[in-house]
Amino acid sequence: MDYFKYKNSSLYCEGVSVKKIAKKYDTPLFIYSQKTILEHFSKLKEAFSQIKPLICYSVKANSNLSILKLLVKAGAGLDIVSGGELYRAKKIKCHSEKIVYASVGKTEEEIKEAIAEDIFMFNVESTNELKRIDKIAKKSGKKVRVSLRLNPDVESKTHKYITTGKKETKFGIDKKSAREIFLGADKYKNVIIAGIHLHIGSQITESFPFISALKKTKEFLAAIPASKNLEFLNIGGGLGIVYKDEQPQTAKEFAKNTLPLLKTIGLKVILEPGRFIIGNAGILVTKVLYNKESYNKGFIVVDAAMNDFLRPSLYNAYHKIITVDENKNKLFQKNKLVDIVGPVCESGDFLGKKRKISADEGDYLAVFGAGAYGTSMSSNYNSRRRAPEVLINNKRCYRIKKRESYQDLIKQEIII
Ligand code: LLP
Repeated sequence: MDYFKYKNSSLYCEGVSVKKIAKKYDTPLFIYSQKTILEHFSKLKEAFSQIKPLICYSVKANSNLSILKLLVKAGAGLDIVSGGELYRAKKIKCHSEKIVYASVGKTEEEIKEAIAEDIFMFNVESTNELKRIDKIAKKSGKKVRVSLRLNPDVESKTHKYITTGKKETKFGIDKKSAREIFLGADKYKNVIIAGIHLHIGSQITESFPFISALKKTKEFLAAIPASKNLEFLNIGGGLGIVYKDEQPQTAKEFAKNTLPLLKTIGLKVILEPGRFIIGNAGILVTKVLYNKESYNKGFIVVDAAMNDFLRPSLYNAYHKIITVDENKNKLFQKNKLVDIVGPVCESGDFLGKKRKISADEGDYLAVFGAGAYGTSMSSNYNSRRRAPEVLINNKRCYRIKKRESYQDLIKQEIII
């Protein structure tokens, strides 16, 4: 994360002091670096420049409208998974022909809405979903483009919860059913089966799972003459990033390793990166509320919690945490490892465990790698208001989301 660095012993995001922003907007607070976002997008685009893929940013990673707008303006399309994400995509005027729609459980209403918006294609996850899309398309009087999401049954060597290309997962269509769909494609008069979609998991640091999925796809297609008319191959997202000491494939390596196969398959490629673009472009800033020792164990209680940032609690994910004031890092006393915990009433509410951190009450801490699946997975648990977000562009700081108010927390509720 090049744009989050200490300057004169204080953490900066691009040209802006993190402490200053934290004071202005209070904590917990998400801060994003625009340069990082755009550079990550460009890295991927350049790595694949030979084949000019359509890069559809995966909205679920971080769905803030300003971030979507930034990426769409830079040329990205959007990968969506719900009516809500479609609404966001349209709100920032993403061209419909750059919207692809996955999800194992698209409702009838969602399908109707997406057809009405003329999205580019649905990534279909079951035979019954295909039937439903065909039926709704007929009623709408439109021919709808779809890709079949193939479950290639490959290991992706990532956390069990975010592995999606193994046969025991709920995702995609098994090869046998996909074959049957191709052979009986005539039955679906109102859809055009235009592509194959793959998404085998997330935070995948090596190329081989992608390669093995592509090889299986190639074999699968070769055995089905009816697949000859396909135009698109969507290889999903999943590129891993550095959180701790991982050495993920770079965009260049990923392209170098997959391009030969992609070229032999010869279809127009679509990518759906989320984490790769936004993960390390964001930090979560939190304030130390208390230092606490209990039965000889040290805790730093901060004002951010699992409702703001769920990854540590849900996946036991490691996120680097540092003090915003660099000098505080030096005060760490050996053998004094602390847990960094939030105020939520669960023992699973932690941001980091056994960390070498020393901080005083009122100090700010920065949790790294919080750009992806941070705010988008946040909740109001414990009736906590969701945190604001700011986007830094060089020396400018833009607030892109306000902190919720107490009124916001109850506005949909009805007292009877
Ligand atoms: N395409 C599809 C169909 C997906 O389901 C996903 C993510 C992506 C693209 C983007 O994947 P990415 O490039 O970000 O790896 N909450 C988890 C990650 C869940 C990913 C869900 N699907 C986490 O915090 O690690």
